[in-house]
Amino acid sequence: MKIQSLKLAYFSPTGTTAAVVEAIAEGLGYEVVEDVDITMPEERQEPLQASADELLVVAVPVYGGRVPFLLEPWLRTLELDGTPVVCAVVFGNRAFEDALIELSDIVAEQGGVVLGGAAFIGEHSFSSEEYPVAVSRPDEDDLRGAKDFGRKLRKTLDALTSIEGAPKPAIPGDHPYKERKPRGPVDFINVSDSCVMCGICAEQCPVGAIDAADFKRTDPDKCIMCCACIKVCPEYARTTKPGSPVEGFAKWLNENCADRKEPVYFL
Ligand SMILES: Cc1cc2nc3c(=O)[nH]c(=O)nc-3n(C[C@H](O)[C@H](O)[C@H](O)COP(=O)(O)O)c2cc1C
Repeated sequence: MKIQSLKLAYFSPTGTTAAVVEAIAEGLGYEVVEDVDITMPEERQEPLQASADELLVVAVPVYGGRVPFLLEPWLRTLELDGTPVVCAVVFGNRAFEDALIELSDIVAEQGGVVLGGAAFIGEHSFSSEEYPVAVSRPDEDDLRGAKDFGRKLRKTLDALTSIEGAPKPAIPGDHPYKERKPRGPVDFINVSDSCVMCGICAEQCPVGAIDAADFKRTDPDKCIMCCACIKVCPEYARTTKPGSPVEGFAKWLNENCADRKEPVYFL
């Protein structure tokens, strides 16, 4: 099948999903590539269309074993027309549960044909110096795997004469999906005196939760706990509040999810 262009759609507050997508794209090796980074709110205002001669790679981090709740409205604007699609999720070395099946179900409902899926490991958003979890993942091996996955997909696509003949990957997951935890206000970020009010945190917040007039204030109703603000702070002024549920969970992950998990591929 001749693919005219590759579209890469991804949400990646702390950069691990973006790194995986880049490696898959490298393996696919198409010349025309459109980057659709939907991490920031403005970019999620634009709907995405893709035709049958384009390939879409769509990738999201796993939140609570699911596709992040805030992405559902944007994903539902996808206008696909027999478009071949590759779905990828990135999880923090605990589990990806129903995130990949949920993503591929949405894509199929929007008119896409899922050619392949994969689940990768990324440093956990809650990982800290005190409670490290999957630090520096995806690493070289992970990215090599992602690139190989891209190469294999390219071979499959090149060998196909029509999308109707595409193999159907057996994506794992349950129906109904794992229940989402009810969302309440979250207040877990500590800002130390090292904050120089540079505002980088506010610029990088995917939900506009940081007060533009006082960068030390985060709106607990808007915050999605992605930890982008903690990871981008050049002064290391933002940390998890001691005794907060996020710190407790980081400790639990550090103790219970220390064994290295490997990426899995479905083709
Ligand atoms: C609110 C929230 C929920 C998460 N839930 C899970 C989970 O269920 N399983 C898991 O292994 N990792 C989980 N993670 C970790 C992220 O999936 C992981 O760190 C991912 O690499 C982050 O992607 P990003 O770097 O593109 O933001 C969660 C992270 C956040 C912020």
